Amino acid sequence: MSDAIDLAALPHDFLWGTATSAYQIEGAVAEDGRAPSIWDTFAHTPGRIDHDDHGDVACDHYHRRRDDIALMRRLGTNAYRLSIAWPRVVPAGDGPLNPRGLAFYDALVDDLLAAGITPSVTLYHWDLPQALQDRGGWPERATAEHFADYAGAVAARLGDRVSHWATLNEPSCSAWIGHLEGTMAPGLTDLTAAVRASYHLLLGHGLAVQAVRAAASGAEVGIVNNLSTVHAATDRPEDRAAARRHDGHVNRWWLDPVHGRGFPADMREVYGVELPERAGDAETIAAPLDWLGLNYYFPATVADDPTGLAPRARSVRRPGVPRTGMGWEIDASGIETLLMRLTEEYGAQRIHVTENGSSFPDTVRPDGTVDDPERRDYLERHLAACASAARRGAPLHGYFAWSLLDNFEWAYGYDKRFGLVHVDYPTQTRTIKASGHRYAEIVRAHGELGRRAA
Ligand code: FCB
Repeated sequence: MSDAIDLAALPHDFLWGTATSAYQIEGAVAEDGRAPSIWDTFAHTPGRIDHDDHGDVACDHYHRRRDDIALMRRLGTNAYRLSIAWPRVVPAGDGPLNPRGLAFYDALVDDLLAAGITPSVTLYHWDLPQALQDRGGWPERATAEHFADYAGAVAARLGDRVSHWATLNEPSCSAWIGHLEGTMAPGLTDLTAAVRASYHLLLGHGLAVQAVRAAASGAEVGIVNNLSTVHAATDRPEDRAAARRHDGHVNRWWLDPVHGRGFPADMREVYGVELPERAGDAETIAAPLDWLGLNYYFPATVADDPTGLAPRARSVRRPGVPRTGMGWEIDASGIETLLMRLTEEYGAQRIHVTENGSSFPDTVRPDGTVDDPERRDYLERHLAACASAARRGAPLHGYFAWSLLDNFEWAYGYDKRFGLVHVDYPTQTRTIKASGHRYAEIVRAHGELGRRAA
């Protein structure tokens, strides 16, 4: 299968990484001055998370960061995507910085650099300080402004060593799943709140771009979106229109404003909610970016759903197609299509695949190894599709496998395992899975190509 990955299509200085996020791995939720986030609240609300799991301990990364960096070295990766917990750094959401919280990330960055690993820092991976939720959260404009202040403070502290910055991770999940579907924090089911949240998330992104650049010269700033290819379930005009709406909901609503095209007119109509727009916001949101992050997991097939939630498109389960343990359809061609779309339709100059991966129910064998052929296959196919996009001209400069470790998979708790490294939670034992060893082999093979060419 490795022959099928056109590694020569990828630049010599390609970022080969793994990705995680703060709440999913750190634990230590009440240590060193950290205050609760909306995810602490949500996870501790009975019935919200499978098995009532929560992130109190998670992978205990807060205390094991050095071991985890040693794992990255064993994988041979040269980059690592991490997120900073806003409630560690600014516990009240606005106001005083917490030096002990910042010190953790300071040390983490130093340790990464000492290991030859480039940090790629995401400022918001869903863990809004609960104190700000109590004041209205993302539906309120002030949250966007507080986000920029926090982002600037982090960049001022780490910007001498960190050059890759992402403002938001998957704002569509924060807005739509968190405020409309209600299965992620803060767990609301309110279209007006969701649309207002979507607006202020993008405004917060734009303000944070300015704040990071002002605090750290040379910062390369991007945003991370999870995009899907979208197919109509049938050729019926109603289903095709539903597919167009779904594309607007998950893709265009998030890409168009950032690319200076404004919020899509058709979707404004679909939502029918007035945006809290002010003069100058559109330009703030459209600040030119240094790179785009693409998270890709699965394609969507949708049908018209006249009485359903906005955007009135219902996912249709196609029979007989391969799926991961999440029930997500496996289609590697989707990542290639999206990379080409970002290149051709949005003129992307630099793209990082900031997440891609799969969950399967792994077990540790009696000999202590974890064999995960399905995840290995998923990885190989998606890397082959990425390389194919690069060969076709997509400016792809990095790939971050989701995830370094098995971790707290949000509403699914610890049951869903995405790691290249297995975690036995009771003992916190880490075991590199076969897919992790395979990733290491691919990274090494790409490095050797570069050395031969030099
Ligand atoms: C993405 C999230 C990430 C992880 C993967 C499986 O939507 O950004 O935190 O949960 O899905």
